Amino acid sequence: MFSAGGARSKEFAPAAVEAGAVVVDNSSAFRMDPDVPLVIPEINPEKIAEHNGIIANPNCSTIVGIVPVWPLHKANPVKRMVVSTYQAASGAGMRAMFELESQSREILDGKEPTCEAFPYQIAFNCFSHNSALDANGYNLEEVKMVKETRKIFDCPEIAITCTCIRIPVLRAHCESINLEFADPIRPEQVRDLLSTAPGVSVLDDRENNRFPMPIDATGKDDIFVGRIRQDGSIAENRGINIWVAGDQLRKGAALNAVQIAEKLL
Ligand SMILES: NC(=O)c1ccc[n+]([C@@H]2O[C@H](COP(=O)([O-])OP(=O)(O)OC[C@H]3O[C@@H](n4cnc5c(N)ncnc54)[C@H](OP(=O)(O)O)[C@@H]3O)[C@@H](O)[C@H]2O)c1
Repeated sequence: MFSAGGARSKEFAPAAVEAGAVVVDNSSAFRMDPDVPLVIPEINPEKIAEHNGIIANPNCSTIVGIVPVWPLHKANPVKRMVVSTYQAASGAGMRAMFELESQSREILDGKEPTCEAFPYQIAFNCFSHNSALDANGYNLEEVKMVKETRKIFDCPEIAITCTCIRIPVLRAHCESINLEFADPIRPEQVRDLLSTAPGVSVLDDRENNRFPMPIDATGKDDIFVGRIRQDGSIAENRGINIWVAGDQLRKGAALNAVQIAEKLL
């Protein structure tokens, strides 16, 4: 199991495969390689058997977002997804998580915050995801979510657009997801489908205005889903809005890799 960044995976994974090992790689190094299965066990476990020595673990925001979308897509194909992420500092590694703590202390002590792991102040602030922009102005995280979802769903025609944002949370990503389906669908159907979906917990308490928060998801295996609403701006009741929170260190990374290895064994 490789989890020390793409450069290390590219350097060392081929030697491990050569020596007879199967590599489950948590980095972005091989995810879009057509010879490498990109697997979320709740969605496409059958791809594990097709490996040629390396199996890739998807990006954390991709996993957190699409685990609950998959059971809906199977029941009623998703034509278009609009995703806005609210991503925790720890998604950028341990140094970034500690920087959120140290900057918070500095600011509360009346000092200038020190920015080292992130390019901008993360404490008491939010900013566009700290990955490189392409020629169209999309950052790499947004591009990964689009390409990886199409590969994992085996659905190249699904339309997806994303906006990825870092927020001052230590752990667990949240996402607002707007879905346009092929056929009409009601919030009650979505709630029913998600209530039995593997890896998903519904937390949709309208009475108490209580919906998934990062602190609900932190340290948990499931992706939490709430705010299940009809999107009245899409005709024929074909639009749904959901809000999700998932621990991107667990299901978005380590847990998913362990689940792949368990299925492999
Ligand atoms: N954080 C997330 O939410 C998340 C989600 C999905 C995927 N990922 C992927 O997971 C990988 C690791 O990310 P992270 O967030 O865990 O980063 P991190 O907190 O910076 O940790 C990286 C770890 O890799 C170790 N390392 C670096 N070079 C190494 C080498 N040559 N040999 C052995 N160990 C080495 C580091 O050890 P030292 O501390 O001793 O240097 C450190 O423990 C990345 O590819 C990232 O894209 C992360």
